[in-house]
Amino acid sequence: MKDLFSIQGKTALVTGGSSGIGYMIARGFVEAGAKVYIASRKQDVCEEVAAELSEVGECIPLAADLQLDSECVRLSGEIKSREGALDILVNNAGANWAAPMSEFPSSAWDKVLGLNVKAVFELTRELVPALEAAGTSEDPARVINIGSIDGLTPPLLDTFSYSASKAAVHHLTRVLAKKLAEKNITVNAVAPGPFQSRMMKATLENFGESIKDSTPLGRIGRPEDMAGIAIYLASRAGAYVTGAVIPVDGGNSTTT
Ligand SMILES: NC(=O)c1ccc[n+]([C@@H]2O[C@H](COP(=O)([O-])OP(=O)(O)OC[C@H]3O[C@@H](n4cnc5c(N)ncnc54)[C@H](OP(=O)(O)O)[C@@H]3O)[C@@H](O)[C@H]2O)c1
Repeated sequence: MKDLFSIQGKTALVTGGSSGIGYMIARGFVEAGAKVYIASRKQDVCEEVAAELSEVGECIPLAADLQLDSECVRLSGEIKSREGALDILVNNAGANWAAPMSEFPSSAWDKVLGLNVKAVFELTRELVPALEAAGTSEDPARVINIGSIDGLTPPLLDTFSYSASKAAVHHLTRVLAKKLAEKNITVNAVAPGPFQSRMMKATLENFGESIKDSTPLGRIGRPEDMAGIAIYLASRAGAYVTGAVIPVDGGNSTTT
């Protein structure tokens, strides 16, 4: 039982690992003894965060703009040439867009679906050989997609393409779980409720108190809540779970 939740010695890639939920997961993984690559657009921020996390373990920055197919290919090529095998892929990088329906631009569909859905597929497809090289039937490789409770229930704000993209990620998770099981790769999604991040800054400033009040567990999520679910899914404890969409939301979506 001592090792049930261990990810010591595993290698992970966390997209968007420089901020918010990705940072919470990357830090949790590093502190738990994994070697963690973080990828986001801003090279300097990636390097700063990796240097900070390297004080507690091993973290390597690899800047990439995952909105672009060519960057998904380049990033996965880097991972494959450096590591060969990859134990854990966390598809976390995401974008949001809010605007009244009458003004909602079509570019907000391209941008949000491009990063939140298409890039998840592109990067996973490119990394399947590395994940397959790491997985065994006893200890499969893991893909963890970050969805949202906005993909489970209609959202608070006018985020039309975002909520649709998150429902799509949840279903893509099930589709890929079925497809990749024979390669010893599990695919699950986490659907977070409110967590402090750059994306959530304005929402929590404006509606933080009412969000807390309407959350059954009476608070927003903390870094340990996010690190905890990711470590569970990445460790021996989560080895027999695939195709699941797990809300981590203090009861927001699960009790209504
Ligand atoms: N926070 C919440 O309450 C909440 C709730 C439900 C779901 N989520 C989901 O959690 C994930 C992380 O969001 P967050 O709230 O933590 O937001 P965040 O603090 O804004 O972090 C987003 C991360 O993604 C990176 N990123 C953005 N565009 C990118 C691109 N084109 N290529 C590569 N990296 C990119 C950002 O870095 P750069 O800007 O440097 O690229 C950053 O590291 C998203 O999928 C979001 O939908 C969050």
